[in-house]
Parts: sequence; C-alpha cells; structure tokens
Amino acid sequence: MKVFLTVILGIGQLLFSIAASSIQVSFHDTQVFLPQFTRFQTRAPAGTTRIWAAMSTDLVDHVYSTNATELQYLIDFYGFSIEGPKGTGTGYIYTTQQPNTVPVYRLYGIGRTDHFLTTSVQERDLAVKRWGYHVEGILGYIQETPSTGLVPFHRLYNAPIHDHYYTTTEKEREDASRNGWTEEGVLGYIFPLEDDAPALDTTSV
Ligand SMILES: *[C@@H]1O[C@H](CO)[C@@H](O)[C@H](O)[C@H]1NC(C)=O
Repeated sequence: MKVFLTVILGIGQLLFSIAASSIQVSFHDTQVFLPQFTRFQTRAPAGTTRIWAAMSTDLVDHVYSTNATELQYLIDFYGFSIEGPKGTGTGYIYTTQQPNTVPVYRLYGIGRTDHFLTTSVQERDLAVKRWGYHVEGILGYIQETPSTGLVPFHRLYNAPIHDHYYTTTEKEREDASRNGWTEEGVLGYIFPLEDDAPALDTTSV
C-alpha cells in the first residue's frame, strides 16, 4: 500500500487528486489526510460498521445500534435522539468474527427499560435468568485486548435508574461517573469515530 501511494504521489498532484477519492473507498484502512483537521487519522478497516448511540431521557435508556432502520424507528416512535448529534462516544465494530474478537451481545430488560451490552456469556445468561432481560442479538465483534489504532469502549452503569452506558470519550466517561454512573471497566476495544463521520442519514431509510 505504501508503495502504491508513493507511486501515485510520484506521478504528480493532479493524478493524486483524481486518485484520492478512490483510495479512500478501496483502501479504507489506510491513513487518510483530512485537510479540515490537518492531521492523519487511521481509518477503520473494511468489515467494520459504525455503532450509533441513541438515548431517551424519558425512558432513561441508551441504545447502541448499527442498524439505521432501527435507529430511525427509535427516533420516530420512541422519542430517542442520536447522541452528539452525529453520535459521539462510539466507533466501528467488526460485523463478522475476526481473530481476537468476541461477540457483543445486546440485551433488553423491558421492566427496567435498559439496553445492555456484554461479551460475557455467563453475564448474559444471568441477566436473562435473574433480571428478566432478553437477548436481542449480536451488535458486532469486538477486540478484547488493546492494540494500535483502537480505543477503549468504556462501560458504566447507573443502578438506581437502570441505565447501561458505553463511551469511547474520556470526557463523557468522567462526566457520567461524576453524575451517578459507576465505571464497570471496558467492554472491549473499537476503532474510533472518524472526524469526518457523517450524521445519521435519515433520507435512506
Ligand atoms: C434493522 O432493523 C429493522 C427494524 O427493527 C429490522 O426489521 C431489520 O431486520 C434490521 N436489520 C438487520 C440487518 O438486523
């Protein structure tokens, strides 16, 4: 890849600018220069998808979803809004099992109006058996150990209001832990939200 880029750069500015858009699409995992932020950012690799965070202050619930149709449904019918509004505090997760990844189970406790993410099968089964949650499915596949380019997806819980909350943003983690949420470690490590990540496209759903 580096050789390919060097070759293109060697050909000249004009060819580079023509090739730039296709590089971004076909080589999603390369470092791409973002002029508006004047720095390099590692792109999430192919095979990953964006996690969106939606919240409802009425239901006191945070939902994490990769499904734009579901998100639109939550917004239209349940009064949720996208956090951010572009969706801060999230990132990109693998859609299929990769080496060193584990499934993230998404559960819902209807009596608690709480969406809950866990990678632990024991915890998942306990939540079903003891606390009335049901398993909604797999959000994606997450890396359990840190590595270059990944950020921790922190897990917090507010027991009195039954709200699980997840964020990659240190400021959000600190704010939440000052406001009643208890830190519960990390869910895993994900690719950070890209600076030029678009807002939820509600026209396509
Ligand atoms: C996305 O959400 C919609 C609405 O809940 C659902 O019908 C659809 O099956 C979901 N798609 C996937 C890929 O899970």
